[in-house]
Amino acid sequence: MSVGEESLRKEQVTIGLLGLGTVGRGVYRVLCDNGALITRRLGVPLEIKKILVRDLQKDRGLYIPPSLLTTNPSEVLDDPEIDIIVEVMGGMEPTLSYVLQGLRNGKSVITANKDMVAAYGRELFAAAQRTQRDFLFEASVAGGIPIIRVLKECLVANYIQELIGIVNGTTNYILSKMTLAKVDFAQALAEAQALGYAEQDPTNDIDGFDAARKMAILGSIAFNSRISLEDVYVEGIRNIKPADIQYAAELGYVIKLLGIAKNTPDGVDVRVHPALLPCTHPLAAVNDVFNAVFVKGDAVGEAMFFGRGAGELPTASAVVADIVYAARNLIHNVPGMLSCTCFEDRHLRPIEAVPNKYYLRLVVLDRPGVLAQIAFIFGEHEVSLASVIQKSAAEGKAEIVLVTHRVAEGNLRRALKLIGELPVVDAICSVIRVEGEED
Ligand code: NAP
Ligand code: HSE
Repeated sequence: MSVGEESLRKEQVTIGLLGLGTVGRGVYRVLCDNGALITRRLGVPLEIKKILVRDLQKDRGLYIPPSLLTTNPSEVLDDPEIDIIVEVMGGMEPTLSYVLQGLRNGKSVITANKDMVAAYGRELFAAAQRTQRDFLFEASVAGGIPIIRVLKECLVANYIQELIGIVNGTTNYILSKMTLAKVDFAQALAEAQALGYAEQDPTNDIDGFDAARKMAILGSIAFNSRISLEDVYVEGIRNIKPADIQYAAELGYVIKLLGIAKNTPDGVDVRVHPALLPCTHPLAAVNDVFNAVFVKGDAVGEAMFFGRGAGELPTASAVVADIVYAARNLIHNVPGMLSCTCFEDRHLRPIEAVPNKYYLRLVVLDRPGVLAQIAFIFGEHEVSLASVIQKSAAEGKAEIVLVTHRVAEGNLRRALKLIGELPVVDAICSVIRVEGEED
């Protein structure tokens, strides 16, 4: 045996799956269908030994040898022959306990579970560190788009200045439908549910929580500083009206639900909210259920990563890539290499301090002097207006659209509180940030 061959002792790498739902089935399919290619690329075969499920009798839509299935977690977690555990069960418990047990038992762990990673990343990395195994979670953000490894490895030379993502396919589908098919929110949501994109209780997606978890993960990696879910400012898309989409288009913008992570001398801010994005921005053309992440690094400049953020095979593509990465480390006897990268403790910039441009839609009384009252309050709060357009007038009321210059959010909020109390103001219908353009 030559020196090079000495370390390549393993004849196969053995895998245990926790879960065989949408993603688990995808992983099984990819490992079967592309197994020969993956074996040649890796050097040894990957072998699935056991799969934990709840229901042994369930029709899974593909043939799985019954001997592979178990309802006993110990047959996966405690089997000394299993090298890598692939957690595609979802949820928080018992999943977290299973994953920690697997790590304690010296197994590398791959997960697609953004909820668990966003909430317990620190504990999971610490557990992986103790046994020097890999804990990898590429599929937890933006499904098939390999953005985590890109940030950790391919862009490692860069200070990341900002990262803007469309990281929720359901909301991107709904906003794309509202924009392109000119339907309202309720109709677009119903279509997303009929197509299986949105769940019956769509809160997680449409109120921005799914994207917030993904942005907590991406922000932590981009800025090397732990961003917890509570650190992420979140607004969803329930209140976006067809009128806003139409007026935004007239002004040269599209409305998208964006995940935004910015690194500034005043601190980092990570947020999820709808925003007007210039039609010329690369993310503006990302429609339907597609995801994309736009990154600015000080060396690379602008880079964008685009693809499917969910689904059986795209998500499995990312999971299997993690399996192969961890398997390589095991074959070559290398301890887990992509460990926790949160070595800083960056100050978080509160949303009130974040400067933005704003799109505002108000209904006011249609009479002389109304705009002067509004402009006066804005002036007192250092809110400078870039444009004011009267859209419609009927029954003594006018709908006006204003776009501001950049101003700290706290100033805008204080001004809008006073403006909302003016007797001449009927309603402040929409306040939407404008993103993706220079001052
Ligand atoms: P899913 O279709 O609901 O599948 C979950 C699987 O886990 C099922 O096979 C289920 O068993 C099994 N399971 C759940 N709880 C269990 C328990 N306590 N004991 C044993 N087995 C249990 O879920 P999924 O859509 O594949 O998602 C899995 C994970 O991937 C989640 O964390 C999700 O956020 C993430 N993810 C999903 C997508 C996507 O496109 N679906 C994309 C990116 C990330 P039974 O089949 O017997 O019920
Ligand atoms: N529900 C998510 C989305 C997919 O709509 O993008 C899983 O993360």
